[in-house]
Amino acid sequence: MALTQTQQFYPGMGLTTTKAPFIEVARSRGELYIEQPYELYSEENHEAWRRLYARIQDRWQRYATEKFLEGVSKLCLDPNRVPRLDDVNQFLAPLTGFKAKAVSGYVPAYIFFDCLRRREFPTTITVRDINSLDYLPEPDIFHDIAGHVPMHTDKRFADTLVRFGEAAHTAARIVQEIKDPELQVQRIISITRALARFFWFTIEFGLMRGKNGELKVYGSGLLSSYGEIAHAIESPDVQRYPIQLEWVINQYFEIDHYQPLLFIVDSFDHLFDLVDQLERWMLEGKLNNVSPGEPTMSEEDIRSFLEAVVD
Ligand SMILES: [Fe+2]
Repeated sequence: MALTQTQQFYPGMGLTTTKAPFIEVARSRGELYIEQPYELYSEENHEAWRRLYARIQDRWQRYATEKFLEGVSKLCLDPNRVPRLDDVNQFLAPLTGFKAKAVSGYVPAYIFFDCLRRREFPTTITVRDINSLDYLPEPDIFHDIAGHVPMHTDKRFADTLVRFGEAAHTAARIVQEIKDPELQVQRIISITRALARFFWFTIEFGLMRGKNGELKVYGSGLLSSYGEIAHAIESPDVQRYPIQLEWVINQYFEIDHYQPLLFIVDSFDHLFDLVDQLERWMLEGKLNNVSPGEPTMSEEDIRSFLEAVVD
């Protein structure tokens, strides 16, 4: 796509979710990994970050797992300005080897999981619109940096993400060995659906039993939502159960409302062991026919598994 006059970039023009010409151009050029053009953030973008960050502080103190709070302080995030990924990485990389890596938008499933295997976290650089701080269907930098990245400072949690990436690698190897194309696609859909559900109910929306038995939040979808973090712990409308792998991999979910069902792990050691078990079940064929329903796998997701380099 050629740049039109109105799409020229200038300092402060804004990197607002779904309204950022810089992102549109990168995507139209097929560029997934991008730079973070920091000068493009508008004052309104910084103000959106400042408000999001300020209002969630009390809720983090009250509901977030201790490891997350430690992570926030280790990253030295600026409460007033959108973070620079380079600054975040300076604090993060020495701790666990993880790095936030700027992307232009949706990352196909295998590519996303494979990034985790290499300790890279695909990170959205746009900021949600200041007029809709509460809900947006797509991730933004507040979700990715304030919700996910503090967890990546914890060694056991970081190792769990890597382990998950390895499980996805095993999945790609398994499906690539299948000769019948129809069966191959059916397998990819079932196995990746199981992986995506596991990721959703743990990394994105997981709860953990705290030291004194109280429930704490470690899932990033909750940690980056002012409303849902409290709802997840306090609401009588939410069902909360000790995690069971066979349930999680067969449980559909919807992304457009607060989650009515959440699962609890005991510790990050527990979570790590569950990923081991997930991979074992995959190898034993137990993920081959999980229940249908959300999430659906796009053509792009399917192709990402078929085209993965698995040597
Ligand atoms: Fe996320």
